[in-house]
Amino acid sequence: MNEKLSELYRKFDEYKAMNLSLNMARGKPGKEQLDISNDILDPALLGNYKSADGTEVRNYGVLDGIAECKKLYSEILGVPEKNIIVFGNASLTIMYDYIAQCMIFGAGDRPWACQQGIKFLCPVPGYDRHFAILEHFGIEMINIPMDAEGPDMDKVDELIKDEKVKGLICVPMYANPNGISYSERVIERFASLRPAAKDFRVIWDNAYCVHHLSDDCDKFYNIFEYASKYSNEDLFIEVASTSKISFPGAGISVMAASDNNIAAVKKRMTVQTIGYDKINQLRHAAYFRDYDGIKAHMAKHAEIIRPKFDAVLEALEKNFAGREGYSWTVPKGGYFISLDVVPGCAKRTVELCKEAGVTLTGAGATFPYHKDPEDRNIRIAPTFPSLDELKLASEILCLCAMIAEEEKNQ
Ligand SMILES: Cc1ncc(COP(=O)(O)O)c(C=O)c1O
Repeated sequence: MNEKLSELYRKFDEYKAMNLSLNMARGKPGKEQLDISNDILDPALLGNYKSADGTEVRNYGVLDGIAECKKLYSEILGVPEKNIIVFGNASLTIMYDYIAQCMIFGAGDRPWACQQGIKFLCPVPGYDRHFAILEHFGIEMINIPMDAEGPDMDKVDELIKDEKVKGLICVPMYANPNGISYSERVIERFASLRPAAKDFRVIWDNAYCVHHLSDDCDKFYNIFEYASKYSNEDLFIEVASTSKISFPGAGISVMAASDNNIAAVKKRMTVQTIGYDKINQLRHAAYFRDYDGIKAHMAKHAEIIRPKFDAVLEALEKNFAGREGYSWTVPKGGYFISLDVVPGCAKRTVELCKEAGVTLTGAGATFPYHKDPEDRNIRIAPTFPSLDELKLASEILCLCAMIAEEEKNQ
């Protein structure tokens, strides 16, 4: 063993001896963030339990959500209220149900389940739970590389000539995990896609479209505005939620889609439910009121989490600046930082971190089938730990990556 490696191991053992239990694995808000939304739970907010149009929110009724919530998301996403459906507590359920609907009933052609060997395009690195849904339904996933502007659209154009390719799933703004927001050029390419499959859908997961870290933020592009130039509105199923605005798992979620797609989804919903939780919808609408209310609230989140992002970035800069084989993203919003370590070292880095008491998202999780072809990507979720924990965890992560590199070079 060379001297450099034994010195790194010595530091590693010091950290190990601290019996730490730090977690940078999942994109969860910290307690301080949850606390800023507590007033949503104030019963006084609900007043007389009636929404603006007189609907009694404590009783059955209203399939597609109360008008106030539709209005709120209509402002955020820039689509008419008639093109919005308000669902329950998770956009992930919307995505799962939508894919299930396409599998069983189709999307304007035969059910996907009756068409052998269907495929989806997956910009990578991406969100593990998107890939889990597609894998669950046996849909083959094809990696699409990304650069700073978004997915490689030449590759997308090439692959959609195959009518077995039924869709693409992506996070267009502050993507999970690399924080990239698609450029206007990429948005235009999406809007003008000409897939061979007539039942092709893009799941446009805008989970982080209001999650700016400061005023110096990325621009939001309304995909439906761009798609309308090419009569391509039916291609896009947009989803969002308040999971990281108010309470994860206890907020509201929405779908925005074309008239045709909204009609198809509502047809299914009439059988599936009498309506979602309108009490929670009214609470959210009463608390946030409008887009300005959301912006003010997100500014409070940013105050809390910006120092956490900065702490991770400082550690990466301090340890890896100018060091060959390492690169990372510096997002202007969202919930994650994406770190690329020396190829072949991600798994070992995550393993070493675990041994030292730092839990990270599993290496490979950011790729379909958990297979990172270069074994180099690590997703860092800075929001949940305290600032002090995060500083320590980031140092340990950097140390473990350097140990993995040295071990590889032995
Ligand atoms: C890109 C993305 N979409 C969706 C979700 C989950 O959202 P929801 O709580 O609305 O299901 C997450 C959570 O981490 C996410 O990162």
